[in-house]
Amino acid sequence: MTNQLLVEADHYRTLVDGAWRTPASNLYLTITAPSDNSIVGYVPAMGQAEAVEAIESAKRAQKAWAALPVHERSEILIRAAALLDERAEEIGSVIMREVAKKRSSAIDEVKRTADLIRFTAEEGKRVNGQTLQGDAFPGYNKNKVSFVTRVPLGVILAISPFNYPVNLSASKIAPALATGNSVVFKPATQGAISALHLVKAFHDAGLPAGVLNTVVGKGAEIGDFLVQHPDIAMISFTGGSQNGSRIAKLAGMIPLVMELGGKDAAIILPDADLDLAAKQIVSGAFSYSGQRCTAVKRILVHQGVADQLIEKMVPLIKKLSVGAPEDNADITPLISDSAADYVQGLIDDAVANGSSLVTGGRRDGRTIHPTLLDNVTVDMRIAWEEPFGPVLPIIRVSSTEQAIEIANASEYGLQSSVFTQDIGQAFRISEQLEVGSVQINGRTERGPDHFPFIGVKSSGMGTQGIAYSLQSMTRQKSMVININ
Ligand code: NAP
Ligand code: G3H
Repeated sequence: MTNQLLVEADHYRTLVDGAWRTPASNLYLTITAPSDNSIVGYVPAMGQAEAVEAIESAKRAQKAWAALPVHERSEILIRAAALLDERAEEIGSVIMREVAKKRSSAIDEVKRTADLIRFTAEEGKRVNGQTLQGDAFPGYNKNKVSFVTRVPLGVILAISPFNYPVNLSASKIAPALATGNSVVFKPATQGAISALHLVKAFHDAGLPAGVLNTVVGKGAEIGDFLVQHPDIAMISFTGGSQNGSRIAKLAGMIPLVMELGGKDAAIILPDADLDLAAKQIVSGAFSYSGQRCTAVKRILVHQGVADQLIEKMVPLIKKLSVGAPEDNADITPLISDSAADYVQGLIDDAVANGSSLVTGGRRDGRTIHPTLLDNVTVDMRIAWEEPFGPVLPIIRVSSTEQAIEIANASEYGLQSSVFTQDIGQAFRISEQLEVGSVQINGRTERGPDHFPFIGVKSSGMGTQGIAYSLQSMTRQKSMVININ
């Protein structure tokens, strides 16, 4: 493929109104690789005037896009998915460098995204309405019928995080496009190059001009302007809870879907299969160095089986390789110095306050070695704060009720895991947990991507997941036929 329009001498362009543009200001942000500080490229720092052009272009293009037959919109999405499959190695290499994700996971992210887009294209054809008979309500007869259809909302603002720069961008863009909306897309700055490759796949697939536009620039500078713009009809945001809550306050009376932070607990009952639990927890906590909203971020284990669980976990943690994303290391450098400092601060606070370091605790620059902390208590920061790094606290509990109480005391409510061989008990606990999803005998995770993905409390609002995203990006419209 040719990337001539997308990038010249490492300087990337953004897509506005169907054209690949350089920034009017000629200002660029430098993107360096977290693993070796090499320059990945330069991305435009777009200003408000260019953001307005992107929004206006999206607004102009939306009606004609919505008027296209849905199967034609779907065909374009399916072509974009095929291009991602073809380019999986190339785009995967960009993700690997830009966000320090191990090579195999970076390539898998692109392939997963192709599957997500294809599924969305198919499911998009089945967004249907319903008809309601008037005579169901007292005082009315069959002469009144409501035809309820689902219509697009208009211009969707999609804002994505660094940790899945392609997948969590496509999970917003694809359902928006499938349902006839146009999109203004603001990717994470660290992740923007990967995201622009995704946008190029949609563009190369034949998306009409203006249907998908990018605004690249620091969220702290351009974000408030974008989220308050009167032509934005809906915001789909994934990122930190603080930013999400700020956006919710500023955005006003438009629909919002927010997927935010988490502090997912794994609850281990005395009858659990501890080999299974250890394996699931280690992979759940440490994959992509813990930089997943759904990472297992605390263990609540019955005192009676805590030592055995730890015994089974330690060898698995020690087996994790630490190194460079190019070498497919399990644990790679964190996204920034400040992210590594933050994680280190949580470890230091826990150790200073009496928790025991079971394994890890070492740091080389941005790389934090996988760390397990035992005897963590509820007065330590690590019991409540989201590290977004490879550190896992163990809180020992004396009863299931205590585990549920601590799990629910978190400000977050994304997911929880429950490990037990008693399915009835698993259901009873699941009912009491204040989270979007409970995983029984498995690690916390988002996929498969057609399952509902729900955050409550500070973990978000609304539901993602293919069919749910399609619903959230349309609204009902009722046409009432009065038969006279
Ligand atoms: P972040 O710092 O909140 O950034 C997310 C996005 O918001 C980026 O595009 C960022 O742009 C933008 N942004 C920043 N300030 C903004 C503002 N004032 N207005 C509008 N947009 C703004 O999150 P992150 O560090 O990329 O991701 C890590 C966090 O996201 C973690 O808390 C994690 O749990 C959460 N997360 C949640 C989910 C989920 O589905 N629940 C999934 C992934 C991540 P810049 O990059 O330019 O700052
Ligand atoms: O970081 C948040 C993502 O939504 C997590 O997705 O569970 O597939 O890693 P994942």
